[in-house]
Amino acid sequence: MTTLQTTTAPSPRATGLRFPPGFTFGAATAAYQIEGAVTADGRGPSIWDTFSHTPGTTYQGHTGDVAAEHHARYREDVALMAELGLSAYRFSTSWSRVLPEGAGRVEQRGVDFYSRLVDELLGAGVEPWLTLYHWDLPQALQDRGGWTDRDTAHRFADYAQVLHGALGDRVTHWSTLNEPMCSALLGHMSGQHAPGVRDAVAASRATHHLLLAHGLGTRALREQGATSLGLTLNFTPMAPATDSPADVDAARRCDGQQNRMFVTPVVTGAYPEDVVADLAAAGAPLPVQDGDLEVIAAPLDWLGVNYYFSSVVRDTGAPTGKHSSFIGAEQVDELEPEGPTTTMGWGIDAPAFTSLLGWLGSLAPDLPLVVTENGSAWPDEVGSDGRVHDPERVAYLLDHLAAVADAVEAGVDVRGYFAWSLLDNYEWARGYAQRFGIVHVDYPTQVRTPKDSALVYADVLREHRTAS
Ligand code: NOJ
Repeated sequence: MTTLQTTTAPSPRATGLRFPPGFTFGAATAAYQIEGAVTADGRGPSIWDTFSHTPGTTYQGHTGDVAAEHHARYREDVALMAELGLSAYRFSTSWSRVLPEGAGRVEQRGVDFYSRLVDELLGAGVEPWLTLYHWDLPQALQDRGGWTDRDTAHRFADYAQVLHGALGDRVTHWSTLNEPMCSALLGHMSGQHAPGVRDAVAASRATHHLLLAHGLGTRALREQGATSLGLTLNFTPMAPATDSPADVDAARRCDGQQNRMFVTPVVTGAYPEDVVADLAAAGAPLPVQDGDLEVIAAPLDWLGVNYYFSSVVRDTGAPTGKHSSFIGAEQVDELEPEGPTTTMGWGIDAPAFTSLLGWLGSLAPDLPLVVTENGSAWPDEVGSDGRVHDPERVAYLLDHLAAVADAVEAGVDVRGYFAWSLLDNYEWARGYAQRFGIVHVDYPTQVRTPKDSALVYADVLREHRTAS
């Protein structure tokens, strides 16, 4: 087991951070990104198995076949969480581990794995926060149309019910979907993610059916008595490159499809009218049926917020020819970020995080927010001293924690923060080249080494416990 060498003196900036008593501090992961063991215990294939094994789809053909071997090493990983002092762990369950064909037959060995994980977490004093869907649709459902087919939303509700029936006695915090925007648009418009489709009509249908799945899943979980239910959305604050009407409208379109399209129906019960009009104009109307929006707007207990970077966009005046993830808005380009960028090429903008939380707080004043992901990727290596010095991630972490603290100070009801990610892992189409972990994973040996950022985070958490 890894033994932490904590920093002897927390950095002065860390000591300045103040959070309300009871604030949840954790780290997050997702099933396909860490588990490996893709054929163990009767697990069925998911769209990410298929996609990552298709030549030309991922960085150097990387797949999640082995990943961080968390399926075998979960005890070691939970011990690490406890050593770091995390009060919570956000993870996702693999639908095709639980229901190999996506519907019908339950694979008990799959359920048992998550049951053991939950017991291990509770035994270590770490609260489980379970996400039911983090992009890995069972391939069997994809073969029947996947998210373009309305039936998939109903199958999701069945899956939610099965898992809550098995774990609901021990897991309090449930999230239906992670970042449905990415599943819909990266999966069905730009084709950068599984299932690799590039089609506006498919993207529009997937958008609506994912939100419907969230609503039906929420209803199913409520019926079983769930009391802490959320949805995790990602947000990219958008600014126009200039104040020209064209650029301002480009920012509106991007903000509409990436941000408002997902949060607005959930908190108001209506899709944003401008986006609905844009989609109809693009020949890709939403397949809404009577009563759907009521289902989608089922009351929630919290909204999960994933934030990484902000964006400045301009209207190019003509189609860019790139495989855009926007439905019918191809005339948009993103400016190169100013200042340093992470290895993902993303800029760094902590003040935009405070503004985003403020905006969400005003949009839904009665809905508590939980930061379900925030983090950065850097070219980390284990040094000759056996440690991983990641000053850029430490700075990013502290700046973004301070941004959250500022929002709380300004009166926004933020209840928790989860660092992305606990471990280095499979960064989807970008493979293992991108390291987001606060804990380094040496893939050939699977040795875990807490980076300096993990140690600083542990200091912040210790301080918070002492102050509370
Ligand atoms: C958000 C996604 O939920 C997660 O799976 C991904 O690894 C991070 N963003 C970083 O890109």
